[in-house]
Amino acid sequence: MERRSDNHAGVYSDNEVYVAVADKEIVGCCALASGNSPAELEHMWIKPEHIGTGVGRALFLHLKERAVHLGLPALEISSDPNAEGFYQHMGAKRIGDVRSEIEGKPRVLPRMIVKLEPEHKKEPPGW
Ligand SMILES: CC(C)(COP(=O)(O)OP(=O)(O)OC[C@H]1O[C@@H](n2cnc3c(N)ncnc32)[C@H](O)[C@@H]1OP(=O)(O)O)[C@@H](O)C(=O)NCCC(=O)NCCS
Repeated sequence: MERRSDNHAGVYSDNEVYVAVADKEIVGCCALASGNSPAELEHMWIKPEHIGTGVGRALFLHLKERAVHLGLPALEISSDPNAEGFYQHMGAKRIGDVRSEIEGKPRVLPRMIVKLEPEHKKEPPGW
């Protein structure tokens, strides 16, 4: 997993952006926006030919670990409706809806939360 800091349309300057790399090619990305409360997981995209190969899981777990390290209590997500099952599978719970619009058409996005356990409360391996 690599952290990117080059700036495109403000996305990178406001967030921590991570990319997954396979064979020197970027195959997925996601961002942690921790400046506001609640912190958000954003911009999770996997290259279509790599969907279903574990890249989303790896990025999600990496971002979660980073959020725990920063001492954040939770991460929230405005999920694409098709990705709700993925986030649920990864332990997120639906807490409501967000109304949005794409190309003038209204959309309802599932609003989700992942609660985080502080690092010091985790049991050491083997316990
Ligand atoms: C949603 C997305 C990020 C998931 O990433 P992915 O790399 O395909 O997911 P993974 O292969 O890492 O899957 C991890 C686990 O989640 C499960 N899963 C993946 N997508 C799922 C879905 N839509 N519903 C239920 N479970 C799902 C997998 O079966 C896998 O389970 P397992 O490890 O127990 O076998 C990816 O499909 C994607 O980029 N979709 C298009 C863009 C998008 O919707 N982004 C989200 C914006 S909020």
